[in-house]
Amino acid sequence: MGKFAFDPDAHSLITPEAIRRHNADEAAGGDAAELAARRTQLALMLEFARQGFAKGEAAASVVRRLAAQLHELRGQAAPAVWEDLIPAAQQHPVSEYLLQDPFTAWSFRKPRGYAGDAGLIDLIYRHPSVGHVVESASELGREIYAYTCAVDSSEAVRERRTILARSVDETAARAPGADVLAIACGHMRETELSQAESDGTLGRWTGLDQDPISVATVNANRADSAVSAVEGSVRGLLRDAYDLGSFDLVYAAGLYDYLTTRIAVRLTEKALALLKPGGSFLFANFSDELATDGYMETFMDWPLILRTGDDMAAIMRAAADGSRYDLDVFFGENRNIVYGRITRPAE
Ligand SMILES: C[S@@+](CC[C@H](N)C(=O)[O-])C[C@H]1O[C@@H](n2cnc3c(N)ncnc32)[C@H](O)[C@@H]1O
Repeated sequence: MGKFAFDPDAHSLITPEAIRRHNADEAAGGDAAELAARRTQLALMLEFARQGFAKGEAAASVVRRLAAQLHELRGQAAPAVWEDLIPAAQQHPVSEYLLQDPFTAWSFRKPRGYAGDAGLIDLIYRHPSVGHVVESASELGREIYAYTCAVDSSEAVRERRTILARSVDETAARAPGADVLAIACGHMRETELSQAESDGTLGRWTGLDQDPISVATVNANRADSAVSAVEGSVRGLLRDAYDLGSFDLVYAAGLYDYLTTRIAVRLTEKALALLKPGGSFLFANFSDELATDGYMETFMDWPLILRTGDDMAAIMRAAADGSRYDLDVFFGENRNIVYGRITRPAE
């Protein structure tokens, strides 16, 4: 992280170390024999992939096989052993091929200094604003991107965008002039899909993000609309540092995957305190059914905290603390993302 332009951890409670600590919580402490055996297993699969690329095998078939093998290895290895394998994978010569993919390269190189920035999500959205990034990639890079952008986890992120826009539209139908808050809003690309936004039936649709580039992007793109963004962090929300008012819908997508359970519960409590009567809080998390976790953690250097439906329900129950909220857990179509929705009773 040291080589990057700014440190989001100055504003947030999110650090790769916190995520890795969370993921290794259950670590049984892998022994040296297991580490040696897993290193050999990893070296074989990486070399096989490198040879596949060198021989001109179809990029999709090389990456599909490698991602499946990494997923299996991640599942089999003791968490502490897996953590030791990550740098070994990243340093293997096969990465010279994989980093030609603009999506893998953006994630690994972290041009904004932290994992999972909104530019990366634009690559998943196939948003025109990053068209030049894809066009300037090598032919192999574009082939790999065609595959990595089509996998279930990417598909689930695109579906998440439509679920957010639909939730806003449903809220506007229930409460005309509705006020909406997006926590960790990124570029707020879901605003482009909202009927309520284009019909002008919303009150305000406010985004909050720690990244000044994302905030400026939203404000430049959505001037003269109900949409606007402000700089702010999870840490600031937890400290009640902002005077945001109250909302008919609050949501957070692409954020809880970086939050430890303790912080997730505290943030959920804060989100609930921002709801008007009848309002909802919607949050998303990559699920533990993700099959691209091994590839993401190694070649994309994108560690995530994956959650089950039960994990989401536990966060919601802890935050609701016995109050009479309506709690709902649901999955996206391919189950790679799980959602929690908490609705405050109408008074
Ligand atoms: C994966 S992007 C998601 C963007 C958007 N919500 C979407 O779904 O397209 C994650 C966003 O979370 C923001 N973020 C990460 N940590 C944050 C924190 N502690 N406080 C506020 N925003 C944060 C990042 O700046 C980034 O824009």
